[in-house]
Amino acid sequence: MADRPGLFVTLEGVEGAGKSTALTVLARHLEHRNQPPVVTREPGGTELGESIRALLLAHSEPGMGADTEALLAFAARAEHLRSVIRPALARGQCVLCDRFTDATYAYQGSGRGLGHDRIAVLEEWLQGEFRPDLTLVLDLPVSQGRQRAGRRSQPDRFERERDEFFQRVREGYLERARHEPERMQVIDASRDEETVARELVAVLDRWLDGRSE
Ligand SMILES: Nc1ncnc2c1ncn2[C@@H]1O[C@H](COP(=O)(O)OP(=O)(O)O)[C@@H](O)[C@H]1O
Ligand SMILES: [Mg+2]
Repeated sequence: MADRPGLFVTLEGVEGAGKSTALTVLARHLEHRNQPPVVTREPGGTELGESIRALLLAHSEPGMGADTEALLAFAARAEHLRSVIRPALARGQCVLCDRFTDATYAYQGSGRGLGHDRIAVLEEWLQGEFRPDLTLVLDLPVSQGRQRAGRRSQPDRFERERDEFFQRVREGYLERARHEPERMQVIDASRDEETVARELVAVLDRWLDGRSE
């Protein structure tokens, strides 16, 4: 999207897919290219957004409806876009974001069963035509992601979900990627860390070099 000088890259995938690892690799690579990025995450990225994140991830009785989840995700996103993402892009910076709207499609649209049409209404409402320039979908079998994420001590409200939930989330991401193959690149994240890192850097470079041509 040429209407802004910066570059907006998002990382997506189920728990344990390697998003945080990828973010570190890509941030370091951009620093080497003299394009130090803003690194941020969703839900979160602002003080208010992080409070909303805590609400979304905390265990609570009697729980939370799927609509509430989606609306909270977009509420956090509104702050994030307004006070972090858009200003950084306007300054010409690259923004690397751990999850964005595709995650709401995958988790609430597919995982919780709200449907992608419902999420599209909120996306249009908040973002209009605004989309990431490049989205890297780290794809791997749910059980493998689980195994990697399982090393964490305290599973959050989503991490406690069953495999079927994450299977729907995975399929939700792949469905999105089929609809927007230009923007969304699916990376086989089941491979070893070094191989995945090499591919991530290659995809980003291809994108950056293609843009400057
Ligand atoms: N390609 C890989 N192969 C094996 N282990 C990995 C790979 N990528 C990341 N890991 C490890 O798996 C765990 C989860 O990775 P992380 O980047 O935190 O995933 P996410 O942020 O998507 O939940 C971490 O312990 C990380 O070191
Ligand atoms: Mg992470």
